[in-house]
Amino acid sequence: MPNITYIETDGTTHNIELPLGATIMEGAIQNDVKGIVAECGGSCMCATCHVYVDESFLDKLPAMEEEEEEMLEGATAEVKANSRLGCQVRITNELDGITVTVPEEQ
Ligand code: FES
Repeated sequence: MPNITYIETDGTTHNIELPLGATIMEGAIQNDVKGIVAECGGSCMCATCHVYVDESFLDKLPAMEEEEEEMLEGATAEVKANSRLGCQVRITNELDGITVTVPEEQ
């Protein structure tokens, strides 16, 4: 199973193996990663699953749909070039070893 590392705002890291097809948000919620709220449960309606992804993996991520882009615009924390909504990124073998960082606020 692909391995993903979450970094919380205080620097705490969680190294977790996730099944293919799970989302970055689901992995965070199921493993108690602090700072990922996921208010809407993964429906791309809240932007509280905002994460910064490891830039070296940007070209391996699925392209952003318009819906995700629009929702990200409303994110509380600064939106960066490597911002994604965790519920919109599904784990693939190509994402093995990726690190995602939780923003200061959601
Ligand atoms: S969980 Fe709400 S947008 Fe991702």
